[in-house]
Amino acid sequence: MSSSALVRLLKSLDPLSPEVSIGDVADRLLTAEHKAFLSLPVVGSDGRPLGLVSRSRLQDIFMQRFGRDLWGRRPVADVMNPEPLIVSLETGLEEAARQITGKLQYPITEDFVLVDRDGRYRGLGTVLDLLKAMEDRIAQRNRVLRKALVELKESQTQLVQSEKMASLGQMVAGVAHELNTPLGYVKNNVQLLRELTGPLFELAEAQSRLAEYLSAPDADEERLATALENAARARERASPESLADDLGQLFDDTLYGLGQIGELVVGLKDFARLDRAMSEEVDLNDCIRSTLVIARNGIKDKAEVVTQLGDLPRIACAPSQINQVLLNLLNNAAQAMEGFGRIQVRSWADRQALYVSVQDNGCGIPPEVQKRIFDPFFTTKPVGKGTGLGLSISFKIIQDHGGSIRVASEVGRGTRFLISLPLGQATTLQRSA
Ligand SMILES: Nc1ncnc2c1ncn2[C@@H]1O[C@H](COP(=O)(O)OP(=O)(O)OP(=O)(O)O)[C@@H](O)[C@H]1O
Ligand SMILES: [Mg+2]
Repeated sequence: MSSSALVRLLKSLDPLSPEVSIGDVADRLLTAEHKAFLSLPVVGSDGRPLGLVSRSRLQDIFMQRFGRDLWGRRPVADVMNPEPLIVSLETGLEEAARQITGKLQYPITEDFVLVDRDGRYRGLGTVLDLLKAMEDRIAQRNRVLRKALVELKESQTQLVQSEKMASLGQMVAGVAHELNTPLGYVKNNVQLLRELTGPLFELAEAQSRLAEYLSAPDADEERLATALENAARARERASPESLADDLGQLFDDTLYGLGQIGELVVGLKDFARLDRAMSEEVDLNDCIRSTLVIARNGIKDKAEVVTQLGDLPRIACAPSQINQVLLNLLNNAAQAMEGFGRIQVRSWADRQALYVSVQDNGCGIPPEVQKRIFDPFFTTKPVGKGTGLGLSISFKIIQDHGGSIRVASEVGRGTRFLISLPLGQATTLQRSA
């Protein structure tokens, strides 16, 4: 017994022998019992199907004048279709549908005959049932596909997240290194301040002792003279006039170092901030600035960065995602440098959109490579250096913001990435949320 889905469509129906008269067949087919069938099968004595008699053919005959008198007693073999649609029960549902729909004639006037492996009649199937079964199967497949799509989207989000974590990890290492420099000299300065201010305390001490003696009514001359001398010596050692300059300079340097540390910490915080509201109104120049702070460590030995930031209206976007895109572009630019190069970051706006361009004078991208750079996992970097996800994720982020990212490049001269983000598009963000 076949397990084919066709078995479920099978309707067992006693076949007619070819000698049965047309009148008898008409009486049989045109009854309520057989109303589900468009036709009746005619099967030979060997059990093989010979043809199908269709209801419409019988109706045509009986609607003619004297139809029944002329045809009623003739054998059914005279009016059957000797080439009906025959499908083996072994056939799969889809293959059966392909065979049948390929031969189907409209309007549909006949069922199809199902036969076993030996070609013997087993029953009838109706085209409508077959189409319905196909429809169910397609609906089920659609459900599976829809589920797969949802899963794919989830894993894509995870991928974006893990790429972000990886780049965060890299950056944290960079930023820690970057913090070390100002931290080092702030520490030195504070130590120096301590050494330099020591004599000042001694001077203050000597002077207060002197003041004590001067104001005491019974002060003896000799001790007063010693106190005076001590105070003068302490003053000489401390040299407050020249110290004032040194201290001023040291305080300035220390404050500058602390400022740098503060800037890095704020940059890191801004960069890594989770986007609570996707439609936060953001100044894109702030994104550029905080990303530059974060990227500085990776870039500083490869290139100088020149910025030219125009006035921008605030825009609804997910700032940490935009930062991620900018960081990718800056890292790519730095990595494209053969010697020490230059990266230009510009921003401007017109009525329709905001634009950010990141341009480098690095190695450039040949045209055949350019076609693939936005593909996931495409990289020309050595194993372990690049995952090839940077630009594909950037592309998706910008697309989710309703914007575009384009590249222009010339081998040996450099590359320019241009991002444009449309103004007044808060609604498009919902998609990526
Ligand atoms: N500014 C650029 N100059 C030259 N080639 C570039 C530049 N930006 C991207 N490319 C090319 O595009 C490829 C894909 O870049 P993408 O940022 O997607 O991945 P990656 O930098 O190789 O790896 P990852 O960003 O995951 O570390 C790079 O391997 C490089 O060949
Ligand atoms: Mg990259």
